[in-house]
Amino acid sequence: MFSTYMISSTLAVPEVSAVPKHIAIIMDGNGRWANQRFLPRVAGHNRGLDTVRKTVENCVQAGVKYLTLFAFSSENWRRPTDEVNFLMSLFLKALDKEVARLNKNNIRLRVIGDLQVFSEEIQERIQKAEALTAQNTGLILTIAANYGGRWDILNATRLALASNPLISPDDIDENWLNPYLAMSYAPEPDLFIRTGGEQRVSNFLLWHLAYTEMYFTDTFWPDFDLKQFQKSLEWYRLRERRFGQTGHQLLENQLVKNA
Ligand code: IPE
Ligand code: IPE
Ligand code: MG
Repeated sequence: MFSTYMISSTLAVPEVSAVPKHIAIIMDGNGRWANQRFLPRVAGHNRGLDTVRKTVENCVQAGVKYLTLFAFSSENWRRPTDEVNFLMSLFLKALDKEVARLNKNNIRLRVIGDLQVFSEEIQERIQKAEALTAQNTGLILTIAANYGGRWDILNATRLALASNPLISPDDIDENWLNPYLAMSYAPEPDLFIRTGGEQRVSNFLLWHLAYTEMYFTDTFWPDFDLKQFQKSLEWYRLRERRFGQTGHQLLENQLVKNA
């Protein structure tokens, strides 16, 4: 069944805390990191996996509850076959090697995206990893693989219609769609990070980023260390998240709360 955790930032003003509850990251710049060092692009992907490990740890330490990582987009199939194959084998290796450690650290793993295109072997390992960590209560780590924001919205619409085919167009609203989105178990991301210098969303969480704070850094993903991570948290802490209200209203609400 679907859980309906997601509280929509457009339907109600969400609670804001100094540390983001949910961080979503486009881990970009692996190839350029390698190019700079005259290494093959895949060397950058290997190093990128080290940064994934460290970032998971950093999030746990900082008290972040949800971390979502864009590992492979629905458009990354357009890359050379060799690189796609390498990324698939790295994904498989990571599923094999890292899951026990995640489990030991009470981390729950979820994988979102159109998984049907993956080999039986990968699909099975994903299911096993999710099942193994399903009872864990610590960080919820979501890996987006063959994920596209447009796919997510279309897929949710398909699922919602399939479960309620007689719905009238007038009854279609956010609450109707939200439970069928791939990440309905998580609140919307508070902080979005993209490394590697580009300032675009590249078909990541189109629906969910409605009121997310967007942080862009030139640092390549393999170089995104604790210091860089802390810098993004500090930047986040200084945002005034207004959700359509005025800054004056925020202050007033704060005063009422503290009274
Ligand atoms: C991100 O790094 C990793 C994936 C998309 C899988 P890139 O491979 O996009 O690295 P650049 O952007 O070419 O440097
Ligand atoms: C986005 O990075 C996808 C992932 C990080 C998995 P890309 O490198 O594919 O994005 P574009 O092509 O530069 O927009
Ligand atoms: Mg890239």
